[in-house]
Amino acid sequence: MRTINVKACAKINLCLDVVGKRVDGYHELEMIMVPLTLHDAVQIKVAKEDCYTCTDASLEMNESNTVVKAVELMRKTFHLTDHFHIHIIKNIPAQAGLAGGSADGAAVLRGIRELYRLPITISELSLLGKQIGADVPFCVYQTPAIVKGIGEIIEPFTMRCPFKILLVKPHIGISTPEAFKRLDRTACEHPNCEDVKKCLIENRFEDLAGFIANSLEYSACRMEPIIQDVKWVLKELGFTTVLMSGSGSTVFALSRDEALIDYAMSYFKRKDMFVCNTEIIDITR
Ligand code: C5P
Repeated sequence: MRTINVKACAKINLCLDVVGKRVDGYHELEMIMVPLTLHDAVQIKVAKEDCYTCTDASLEMNESNTVVKAVELMRKTFHLTDHFHIHIIKNIPAQAGLAGGSADGAAVLRGIRELYRLPITISELSLLGKQIGADVPFCVYQTPAIVKGIGEIIEPFTMRCPFKILLVKPHIGISTPEAFKRLDRTACEHPNCEDVKKCLIENRFEDLAGFIANSLEYSACRMEPIIQDVKWVLKELGFTTVLMSGSGSTVFALSRDEALIDYAMSYFKRKDMFVCNTEIIDITR
């Protein structure tokens, strides 16, 4: 049986600016997205019939799942008649602003492309992925990038700024549509992605704190004040560069101080929150 194993990497948004709203209800964004070493493992096996399994039993593997959508999309686009057994080893939490679902969907697109050596470029596959969800095009690339449109315009860049990333996710999750619905574009922050990109390219880690921001953070913190509390604790512990990722609820802290990260990890573990010490993949050091 033909089998392929694919890594589905989580992402964070080092910068997220909502620049407008379209008539179809989606928002025009400008973001800096970076892929993390934290990942789900996706195993794709050609099988007699379709079968979807996941180590997290709470995730429904039905037609609303990005993995199932990705299989159907590839079958339809490339007239494939095979069936698949897809197994997900889940490490990325859901409703966390880490693109866990989108990463799995994108991994299926990349895996099936490789399995059949399909004649489609990564850039074309990324655009195809937009049909599954707005974060899927970035997850197909899995490289640091400025991301525009609703998420489908990917401008990759190479960065030279290494640091560790602590992720802390409170018990509650945030629904992305709900976070966008509650957004007040006149009241929220509007960061400049180019400034953040420049810091990353020029290895100016100390300057990042002054530039990173997320337009969705204010509304998410009003929905779930625990997000603000987590940010506050991280700053009290000594982190200076702290932000919510995507539409939340994960908060990340950037640091080069391993001891500080270890201390904060045990603090939040004691509160029974999801914590992870991770870093950006694909950094040219
Ligand atoms: O595309 P996806 O299913 O991931 O998006 C979930 C929801 O997030 C959309 O239905 C929409 O409400 C909101 N969204 C948005 N603008 C974007 C991305 C997502 O309004 N660029």
